[in-house]
Amino acid sequence: MPLRARLMALVCAILLVSLAGGGALIAWHAAGRVQTELRAALSVGANTVENGLKELRTADDRIVELRRLIATFDGNRHVRAILLDATGSTTARSDLFVPAQKVPGWFVRLIGNPIPRLQIPAEFGASIVLEPDPANELDEVWEQSRDTMLVLAVFAVLSGLLISFVVGRALRSLEALSSAFATIGNDDGHRPLLPRGAPELKRLAVAFNRMSERLAAAAAQNQRLNERLLTLQAEERAELARNLHDDIGPLLFAVEMTAATMERVAASGHVGEIPAHARAIHDAVALMQRHVRDILGRLRPISAAGLHDAIERLVSFWQRRRPDVRFNLSMAIEEDLLEEDAKETICRVVQEGLSNAMRHAAPTRIDVTIEHDNADGVRVVLTDDGIGLTPAHANSRGPTRLGLIGMRERVMAMAGSLSVTPGRDAKGLTLIASLPRANRAQEEQESLG
Ligand SMILES: Nc1ncnc2c1ncn2[C@@H]1O[C@H](COP(=O)(O)OP(=O)(O)OP(=O)(O)O)[C@@H](O)[C@H]1O
Ligand SMILES: [Mg+2]
Repeated sequence: MPLRARLMALVCAILLVSLAGGGALIAWHAAGRVQTELRAALSVGANTVENGLKELRTADDRIVELRRLIATFDGNRHVRAILLDATGSTTARSDLFVPAQKVPGWFVRLIGNPIPRLQIPAEFGASIVLEPDPANELDEVWEQSRDTMLVLAVFAVLSGLLISFVVGRALRSLEALSSAFATIGNDDGHRPLLPRGAPELKRLAVAFNRMSERLAAAAAQNQRLNERLLTLQAEERAELARNLHDDIGPLLFAVEMTAATMERVAASGHVGEIPAHARAIHDAVALMQRHVRDILGRLRPISAAGLHDAIERLVSFWQRRRPDVRFNLSMAIEEDLLEEDAKETICRVVQEGLSNAMRHAAPTRIDVTIEHDNADGVRVVLTDDGIGLTPAHANSRGPTRLGLIGMRERVMAMAGSLSVTPGRDAKGLTLIASLPRANRAQEEQESLG
């Protein structure tokens, strides 16, 4: 059952219970009032009869006076007087005031609580009976109770409608939010939610829009990285193919040619030429081995030769190309303690950091520090004194700017963090990569040690 229907069913049930409670309270008060009124009327009637009987003793025609006494009750609203003779037969009775409207039977049964009639002995064995009749009082309380119940019912219906309207409005924003959540992450994206309704719902809509923007940005970034990865893979394959083709292909061809020549030479009986051809094959194979080693060297991770060597090679690579820049390298780490992934990440951070500084910063000095920063962590700090980040960089989101993103992803994959801040004296740029869990697990270290 939808939430709105459930809420409204609950509200209706509460209103109906309140209405029923109100009705019961009204009926209880009405019954009390009828009882009080009838008892009061009966006591007044009894006084009237007793006073009448006292005066009767001096009257000439007592029967006529008795009838007159009964007649004084004509038109009474609550009590009927009846004159019984000595045998108990009715000889006279007063007429009650007739109520204006007919009270429904169920209301009479609900309220009517009969009060016993009163019998007062008179002269000659006759007696006067006072019989309470609730019809007139019921008529009055019915009118009041009905009006009060009507007001309560109108109030309940209006409250129900108002609550339904308010709940409907609040839920409309919630429905928009829930269908937006259902479609988030779909390829076709979604339109931003309009912050509407209660303040809590407005905050939810704003937070949802922010989350979905971040999701879209992350998805776009992922796509760019994937595309770049594919491009890099394609480039690597093409380079590998080029190298195999250019370096190995001619040598293989040369070996094949020399082998065929050797065959021909051997068949023609010029055996003395064979060693020269064999040497040529030997030289070609040695050359091929060198090329294959080079290719394999390029395919291995850059840190495979050792972290210290790899970092020194990266620094001296740039130093050779830019002798005017002063490089300071400080590496105080125990390489054997580090995870392979951590070593590769450190190399990649230094590689991209140096390449960025040389490409974008025009520096005169670059400091590279790699050190342990807690029991298990490593900190890599690259500082240059170049131009620093320009406002253009802050606003740019070009598809080619993937160096820092890729670096941050690598560092985050190792549960670390990357910060890019202005450099020393607010000049240049400082890049800090923290890898809190760079060390091998304890057991691994012990088994190695
Ligand atoms: N050391 C630095 N000094 C000044 N600006 C820098 C430095 N490093 C990065 N930047 C700025 O940050 C931008 C983003 O760097 P990032 O490495 O992500 O991309 P890129 O170097 O432009 O391209 P690529 O994807 O090829 O690395 C650079 O374009 C440059 O504007
Ligand atoms: Mg870069």
